[in-house]
Amino acid sequence: MSLKNKSVVIGVCGSIAAYKSCDIIRGLSRLGANVEPILTNGGAKFITSLTLQVLSKNKVYSEMFDIHGNYEINHISLAKKADIIIVAPATADVIASLACGRADDLLTCTVLASNVKTLICPAMNSNMLNHKATQNNIETLKGYGYKFVIPDKGELACGDCGDGRLASVNVILSAVEGFVL
Ligand SMILES: Cc1cc2nc3c(=O)[nH]c(=O)nc-3n(C[C@H](O)[C@H](O)[C@H](O)COP(=O)(O)O)c2cc1C
Repeated sequence: MSLKNKSVVIGVCGSIAAYKSCDIIRGLSRLGANVEPILTNGGAKFITSLTLQVLSKNKVYSEMFDIHGNYEINHISLAKKADIIIVAPATADVIASLACGRADDLLTCTVLASNVKTLICPAMNSNMLNHKATQNNIETLKGYGYKFVIPDKGELACGDCGDGRLASVNVILSAVEGFVL
């Protein structure tokens, strides 16, 4: 399968699993996709924009209000460019924001401004994931047509064991391919 001529916008959020977005970006690129990363403020605490830029061979967007020479509005141009949006890792915070229709950072604003297929790959502590608030937010987003890649069970970065590990890179890549077809 191939993602040739497809643009994938990937939102990278503030989770220890942010480093795994590097392998997701490489995998998407190998499948032929043009990958456009959006790094949230939380995500930038865990991984650098430089790394994502080198791996994607594209500018990494973080700011909503930086408009350069071509006067493109980042969230609108990214929303128009995307054939698919993937949020990996997706934090409880971003999932909550999306479920409320918030648009106070570049990632949430881009998702809201887009009508393409959106794949959310949660990663968080088990209690955060299983909290009724997060589960309700996930159900709300499913109701809007967003697809989810179920997180794995296992050892978590915080030392707990349970649900909440970001799904494997291969599972996420297969989900993207299946989604684009
Ligand atoms: C060490 C550390 C690890 C964290 N890991 C996660 C995580 O895996 N999932 C999550 O939902 N939040 C996690 N958080 C909390 C988020 O980073 C925090 O909610 C942040 O505001 C999210 O920003 P963003 O969603 O805009 O990227 C973590 C915080 C710290 C300090």
